[in-house]
Parts: sequence; structure tokens; C-alpha cells
Amino acid sequence: VLDIRKLYGQADVFTYDPGFTSTASCDSTITFIDGDKGELWYRGYPIEQLADKSNYLEVCYLLLYGELPSAEQMKDFELRVTRHTMVHEQMHNFFRGFRRDAHPMATLVGVVGAMSAFYHDSTDVADPEQREIASIRLIAKLPTIAAMAYKYSIGQPFVYPRNDLDYAANFLHMCFAVPAEPYKVDPALARAMDRIFTLHADHEQNASTSTVRLAGSSGANPFACIAAGIACLWGPAHGGANQACLEMLREIGTVDRIPEYIAKAKDKDDPFRLMGFGHRVYKNFDPRAKVMKESADEVLELLGIHNNPTLQVAKELEKIALEDEYFVSKKLYPNVDFYSGIILEAMGFPTSMFTPIFALSRTVGWISQWKEMIADPQNKIGRPRQLYVGSERRDYQDIAKR
Ligand code: ACO
Repeated sequence: VLDIRKLYGQADVFTYDPGFTSTASCDSTITFIDGDKGELWYRGYPIEQLADKSNYLEVCYLLLYGELPSAEQMKDFELRVTRHTMVHEQMHNFFRGFRRDAHPMATLVGVVGAMSAFYHDSTDVADPEQREIASIRLIAKLPTIAAMAYKYSIGQPFVYPRNDLDYAANFLHMCFAVPAEPYKVDPALARAMDRIFTLHADHEQNASTSTVRLAGSSGANPFACIAAGIACLWGPAHGGANQACLEMLREIGTVDRIPEYIAKAKDKDDPFRLMGFGHRVYKNFDPRAKVMKESADEVLELLGIHNNPTLQVAKELEKIALEDEYFVSKKLYPNVDFYSGIILEAMGFPTSMFTPIFALSRTVGWISQWKEMIADPQNKIGRPRQLYVGSERRDYQDIAKR
């Protein structure tokens, strides 16, 4: 048995906190979460008010600069973003390097990282102006890149951005327009899309944001940092849960099969978890899930989809779980991913696009957090310690003697 006291001197004391459940890695003025009350604020504004009254680009401004913009500031910001929505024609070659049916998240990680090979005038982290241009470029181009990754994965030609449309409408246009067929974005669907973007815009020090901060703490350029965040988001315990959740709801299929899945989720010997349920910080309803549930009802109504079996399963599953002792005692409530997939599916997105949509929405949060960190005079490279539990010191043995 390893005697740790022999290895670590008295002075070498640090906190052992796997999963960082009780470690604050930074101070921040951006986002506040009260997990017990189920509250979420961006720069002090409750998420419900922003989802109802604001729009995604205004929320981007708020997250980036700390205050809501005046009308003039908003106009200028919109212009700055729309000016950067196109990607360089040469970047199309990056997409062509991927297999024709590549998952859009794989493409997104690669292409966003590769932006550092293109935009040399916005990779100097020490220059505030370059940081600003990089931020605008990322916010402007992420929808274009995500839509291109989607088009590529289904073998359709890329659709160029339309700067006369707003941010969400333009994204729908780039995803769903096809040559020689008129496509008109439904403003109500664009509004629902915009709300999904807003609800995902930031969420303080979650795994992907912490990844962006950690990558950025070494001085890595912003495109590399955001690519790192996208990679982290992909996992099913994080942003990948929206895809996994819809696949689970489809697999359950009918309301009568719910008890079987609830039993599986409660079984300690079964690794199955109810996707879209539970959260590290929320020990109450995720406020984003509440707004998302209302949106799901609105969008299905708008599209004339009645008695949607997936929504029926979701609502019944939520009801049963919220009355079940296991979920109640562990404070497991639906999270943001529980209802978002239903809306996205109704809009026509395949499940493989759910996490890319999360990534493009979260880009502004990642950038705001990255900028806050870089501007902080206390900023230093992130370097967690470990508790070594390996072998004691031993001498090398020649291979012939082993
Ligand atoms: N279904 C069944 N049981 C669950 C679930 C679930 N979805 N989530 C947690 N539990 C149980 C665990 O088995 C554990 O039980 P135990 O105390 O008997 O061992 C207990 O609840 C606590 O779970 P942890 O994994 O320790 O909690 P943690 O804070 O580390 O995990 C997480 C949070 C990853 C979100 C977890 O709830 C989960 O895996 N949920 C499903 C995936 C998901 O929806 N992820 C999206 C999160 S939101 C987002 O990233 C945008």
C-alpha cells in the first residue's frame, strides 16, 4: 500500500475535488446560477425575461460587453456581425477533406480550429483589438460553418449567408434552402430558433467553458480555444445529451414502455441514465427547460403537429419521474436538453445537428468567458494538481531480467 505521506511533504497541501464539485476556478461577472431555486441570470437579467423580450444578438452584446445596448450600439453590432458571416472560399476545402457522411460535430471541431490558419490578424491574444475581431468572427461564422457541416453531411451544396435576414432566420435559410426551390423562413420558427440560441448562450463554468478557459490560460489563440470547447461539448453527459435524449425518447416509443426505462435508470447495475435529466448545479427545475417546454408546445402547434408521440412520451416521462422517490430524493429534474430536441426535430433538423446548434449558441458564452479571463490581471495558466496513487519509487530493470 502506498503511503502518501511519504511522497507529499507537509507544505504540499491542496484540495482533492474530483469533478470540481466544490472548487471555484475563477471569479466572473457574466452568469449567475442558483441551483436550488432554479434561477439563471445573464449579467443580472433573468433568463425568462431575455427569452421572452430580447433576441439572441442582443444577448450576445450583453454577454460580451456587460450591458444591454442602446439602439445605436445594437445597429452597429449587427452590422459588425453580418459583415463577417461569410467564410473564405478556400475554407470550403477543409470540409471536402471529411468523409461525406461525417458527423457535423467532427467537422465543426476541425474547421473552427482551422480558422487559426486563416485569420492571422486575430490570433494575437495580447492585442485587445485582435481579441475583439476574433470574437465577432466566431459569432458571425459559427452558424455558417455549422450549416455547411450539415449540408456537407447530406450531400447538398453549401448555401451562402443572407445578411438581410436576422441571425436565426439566416441560419435556417443556410440549413434548409436548396437550389432552384424557393425557401421562405417562417418568422415564428425563426423566433423559436432564436430562443433556443438565447437559452444556450452561457452557463458559467460548465465543462466546455472550463475547457475553453483552461486552453486559453496557456495563451492559445481564440479559434483553438473554441474548438477545444466544441470537442468537450460533444460528450453525451454535456451538450451531446440533446441528441442522446431524443434518441432515447424515440426508443421508448410509447407511453406504456416508460416504467421499463424508469426501472433501468434506477438500477445500479445498469449504466443507463435518463438523458435530459439531472444537472450538476440545478437541484430544482432547470429554468431553461421550462421555457423550452412552452416553446415545444408552440412550435408543434404552429407546424400543425398534433399528438406528437415523442412529445407525449417526454411529458409522461417527466410526470412519472417527478413523482418517483428515486428522482425526487436525488433532485433529478429535466434539464435544457430534455425538450430542445423535440423542437429541433419538428423544425426538420436531424439529431446529428442538435449538438452543433448548441455549440453555435454557446460560442458567445465561451468567448465572453475567454475575454474576461484574458483581461483579468490575476489570470495565470490553469494547472490542477493530482493525488498520486501509483507505484513507489523503484529501479529500472533491464528487459532480459523482467
Ligand atoms: N438518470 C438516472 N440517475 C441519475 C441521472 C439520470 N439522468 N443523473 C444522475 N443520476 C444519479 C446518479 O446515478 C447518482 O446516483 P448515486 O448517488 O446513487 O450514485 C446521482 O444521481 C448523482 O449523479 P452524479 O453523476 O454524481 O451527478 P453529476 O452532477 O456528476 O452529473 C449529469 C450530472 C452528468 C448531468 C448527470 O445528471 C447525467 O448524466 N445526466 C444525463 C445526461 C444529461 O442529461 N446531460 C446534460 C446535462 S445539461 C448540459 O450539459 C447542457
